[in-house]
Amino acid sequence: MIVLGIETSCDETSAAVVSGTGDQVSQRSLVILSQDVHRVFGGVVPEIASRAHVTAIVPVVDRAMSEAGIELQDVDVVAVTNAPGLVGALLVGVSYAKGLAFGAGKPVLGVHHMEGHLFAQSLEHANAVPPFTALLVSGGHTMIVDVPAWGDYNVLGATRDDAAGEAFDKVAKLLGLPYPGGRHIERLARDGDSSRFRFARPMVRRNQRPGDDDYYDVSFSGLKTAVLNAVRDSDNIERDAAHIARGFQDALIETLAEKVRRAAEQHERERVVLGGGVACNQALVAEIRTRLADVGAEVYAPSVRLATDNAAMIARAGLFHAERGRRDDWSLNAYASKALGSG
Ligand code: KG4
Ligand code: ZN
Repeated sequence: MIVLGIETSCDETSAAVVSGTGDQVSQRSLVILSQDVHRVFGGVVPEIASRAHVTAIVPVVDRAMSEAGIELQDVDVVAVTNAPGLVGALLVGVSYAKGLAFGAGKPVLGVHHMEGHLFAQSLEHANAVPPFTALLVSGGHTMIVDVPAWGDYNVLGATRDDAAGEAFDKVAKLLGLPYPGGRHIERLARDGDSSRFRFARPMVRRNQRPGDDDYYDVSFSGLKTAVLNAVRDSDNIERDAAHIARGFQDALIETLAEKVRRAAEQHERERVVLGGGVACNQALVAEIRTRLADVGAEVYAPSVRLATDNAAMIARAGLFHAERGRRDDWSLNAYASKALGSG
């Protein structure tokens, strides 16, 4: 089966072609056009994102097909992200996918963006398939998901306020670093002394038990405020910036690593799959590997291209559903929010 995937949920216009059956699926092409324009605003401006998708979508999809060496008539299904995300941005992808599919007499299928992230690693690592524990950490989402099988998603925990990437971006802004700030914080933190600023690990208590409502959930707004206070109290921010970045990053990644360890241990999973832009953070990946070594679980971290938003993961998730006969009709719509695994 050949699937064309389209992703426009935020600020990347992306298209990709995958082909195969079952878990033997290969990526035939992947085109990602990042909208750099948002950097000057320090965050994604929804209306600008929608307009940029309109400009880019036709050449990006054409390029993905030509790099894969296929024509539209070779495609079996067009898969498109239809939730969650910026609704105007999503609508560009959904409308284009529907028009393209209808014109070519092909079926269209809507894919949940976070389900795409769960599938991304399987394109690179043959063993990154269920059963596994997943940590999805991006600018908009932070969730820990137990995945006994493809299509069966049990969200164990999520952030109660800021997403992990959002916390990185806000702290980067406090330290005067460019947007998006995650990789700048990671670089700065390498020069930081971990003993200089020790921030509390949010929602990690020794006496927590499975079943407690904060056993898997995370919260980063208190950590962000602690960083703000440290920045305000510093009499030499140039000297302290790297130490503060290190203290912040240590607190955030130790919290996430501990929650992932709990999830893998309680569900006896031997594989842990990471996804989302924050999974590019090497210190996070190393910390999770260290903690999971005790549990005996293998950790699968994606490459930068497949960790961040891309259409290959959407095409891959679409192929799974298409093989099971799922098709959407022409009323397929875009939704800003939608629970993972809700159909
Ligand atoms: O998945 P993604 O590309 O887009 C969505 O938000 O869906 O994630 C972007 C987020 C940004 O918040 C960015 O700062 C963060 O991922 N990020 C990182 C790193 N690289 C990207 N955070 C920490 N360390 C990194 N190396
Ligand atoms: Zn994403």
